[in-house]
Amino acid sequence: MARIQIPRGTQDILPGTVEQWQYIEAKAREHFRRFNYQEIRTPLFEYTELFQRGVGETTDIVEKEMYSVKNPRSEDQLTLRPENTAGVVRSYVENKMYGSPNQPTKLYYIGPMFRHERPQAGRLRQFTQIGAETLGSSDPSIDAEMIAMVFRFYEEMGLKGLRVDMNSVGTREDRERHRTHLLAFLNDIRHELCEDCQSRIDRNPLRVLDCKVPKDQELTKNAPSLLEHLSEESAAHFASVQKYLTALGIPFVVDPRLVRGLDYYTLTAFEIKMAEIGAVETLCGGGRYNGLVAELGGDDMPGIGFAFGVERLMLALQKQGIELPVKTGIDCYIVVQTPEAKEVAFTLVDQLRRAGVAAEMDYLDRKMKAQLKAADRLTAQYTVIIGESELANNTVVVKEMATGEQKEIAAAELVNVLRK
Ligand code: HAM
Repeated sequence: MARIQIPRGTQDILPGTVEQWQYIEAKAREHFRRFNYQEIRTPLFEYTELFQRGVGETTDIVEKEMYSVKNPRSEDQLTLRPENTAGVVRSYVENKMYGSPNQPTKLYYIGPMFRHERPQAGRLRQFTQIGAETLGSSDPSIDAEMIAMVFRFYEEMGLKGLRVDMNSVGTREDRERHRTHLLAFLNDIRHELCEDCQSRIDRNPLRVLDCKVPKDQELTKNAPSLLEHLSEESAAHFASVQKYLTALGIPFVVDPRLVRGLDYYTLTAFEIKMAEIGAVETLCGGGRYNGLVAELGGDDMPGIGFAFGVERLMLALQKQGIELPVKTGIDCYIVVQTPEAKEVAFTLVDQLRRAGVAAEMDYLDRKMKAQLKAADRLTAQYTVIIGESELANNTVVVKEMATGEQKEIAAAELVNVLRK
């Protein structure tokens, strides 16, 4: 029969690699704890309308990249989440989290997202985001804390040479004001721009500035900048975020062309980049979204967040030759000579495991020599041997692999000797 393969743009994370994922996840959880964030788990699918309204009808994500299905036996349209800000905000509103005495609401998540993109290094159709959202504060210190939180996490992972690019995309009113100038500029060069951009002009002109086609980038080099059209209040907010970041010594560059691919952003938008991680260089993206809670039916509450892809983090670590200090291997392997010894081993591994020791034995009827090899491959710290004479004397031989030291002890003592 023909073999069935893994779907394009997805990956299996196998033993040997999964330990690195577990390490990153555990470090992230500990990191978030220090910043007073709590975990939230929302469904992998939501009503399609959540993303249409939340992420924006004219974004690439909603237009081209969503995996949607009709709910069987009903007309409901469901979509595998392409990102999690919309889901978290939905949950915030639905569970009235704004009413909790602990404010602002600080949440984080770790989990898979789904986008139908062209797969390449660092771009998958199922990928894993670690992200955080803060709801209920529009203070610029939270913007800076958000950026610092993810920057410090990367630092802790050992990454070097990261760049924070930021911009203010203003409020809706700022953008309206800017739009008039931008449209005048873009309409003049409309026919020289790529086809996508020609249609973006009418639907979402700001996105033209985000076009990756070199010719378009050149043509729009002198397009009117949003930064020059910020209200006094928006400009002050942006200046304050920068002041806080400077106080923490976080290096950043203001990029007036930075436009994120999701429509909910207001004011601060940022990306963290590293040169040369495959086809893509963006490790992390985020920003403020002060209109989103209201857009999704809640009160007018401000929000800000970020998310980064774990696959891209792994690529970055690889690129910089960073090895994570993951723990592998087991504590103890019991090698037996006879079927009777195996029976003893079977109850001993049970006792060891109950005492917190990672213990293993042979299940393949291998010769002692092959069992010793298996213990070696599993990098067991101790090998316990039960031969015929040990069996007769109710003893076992314990060998510490690092030192080669070995001693014979009563079988009943084994758990106490190896207990953590
Ligand atoms: P995003 O920029 O679409 O933002 O995605 C954030 C990060 O997810 C990217 O920087 C990248 O590391 C990873 N990522 C995105 N798409 C893929 C893909 N196809 N394959 C691998 N990794 C990918 C958001 O999703 C926003 N929800 C972030 C946010 C949270 N803004 C505010 N709060």
